[in-house]
Amino acid sequence: MTAEELEGALGVLPRTSYAYTPTPLEECPRLSQALGGPRILIKRDDLTGLAFGGNKARHMEFRIGDAMAKGCDMFINTNHWVSNNARFIAAACAKVGMKYIFVARGTKERPFKGNLLLQHLLGATFHYLESYNRDEADAYCRKLAEKARKDGYTPYVSSDEPLNHYAGTLGYMECALELAQQVQSQAIPVTKIFLVAGSSMAGILLGSKLVGLPWEVTGVWAGDRENVEEQIVSYSRQCQKLLELPSSIEPNEANVLFGYVGEGYTIPTPECIEAIQLVARTEAIILDPNYTGKAMAAMLDHIRKGMITSRDTVVFIHTGGTPELFSHADSLVV
Ligand SMILES: Cc1ncc(COP(=O)(O)O)c(C=O)c1O
Repeated sequence: MTAEELEGALGVLPRTSYAYTPTPLEECPRLSQALGGPRILIKRDDLTGLAFGGNKARHMEFRIGDAMAKGCDMFINTNHWVSNNARFIAAACAKVGMKYIFVARGTKERPFKGNLLLQHLLGATFHYLESYNRDEADAYCRKLAEKARKDGYTPYVSSDEPLNHYAGTLGYMECALELAQQVQSQAIPVTKIFLVAGSSMAGILLGSKLVGLPWEVTGVWAGDRENVEEQIVSYSRQCQKLLELPSSIEPNEANVLFGYVGEGYTIPTPECIEAIQLVARTEAIILDPNYTGKAMAAMLDHIRKGMITSRDTVVFIHTGGTPELFSHADSLVV
């Protein structure tokens, strides 16, 4: 299919407008020189706007569009207490005047800092669950929704809405087209793309496959979800069904690296800290310790091991997450 046809298919969905796009595609000559390696560019999706920016500004356009099309006036969401996603929902709800309830997992005694602080500023109402268990939190959200309905609200329960799981895939199909236009207009011969594995990666993969873009996409797992490869396939199939697309992603097409998560989600590895420092000191671009620092560490490792060579041109998609940087100040000063 053509890029115009894919744009047209996406164009029929209910949508709000949040992200500043196209985001810049920034050359990183000093980073490239420091590595003696390939030409490196960073797609600055950390600059999308919407309360510090990041990939989810693109996702939220479809999620809030869907909630508004369904006549909802309240958004009930649960995530891990450090969640970027939760921050974006708070921001997007503030923009349209929708009441926002956040059920924070694992937060009994967490201080208001990073994303939690931003959610507070953005007007979220908080419920704290000591447990990290998703099913328990989902059940809790449904109970809140029941009560809200009795109080006259029309709640949108995030975890029960299929679109909430693949909105990122819709947003990043469009990002793939945007990136293609940028590199084609500047004749940049991109061979490889790196980003954090998840719904956005599914969108880059699917958008690229549908319109025949020539690059190889690698995702890096940050430890925040199970079965990420299956999810990528499933998100792409749901998008295929929704938009009647000619194909979706096959299981063998999702290339995800699992070796860079370290001790676990939200625990920065030494390599992640080194990657954050190197990119900051060569390009003045700030990565985050939970997601993009780990993805960059993987890309640097592949360059240093010669799996990405100086014949390659590689684009790293910076998906944001920077508000959590300040929560890790102690481990980042080494
Ligand atoms: C900064 C950042 N990058 C990447 C991801 C990966 O997930 P997705 O692509 O589904 O947003 C997340 C998930 O929360 C994230 O916060």
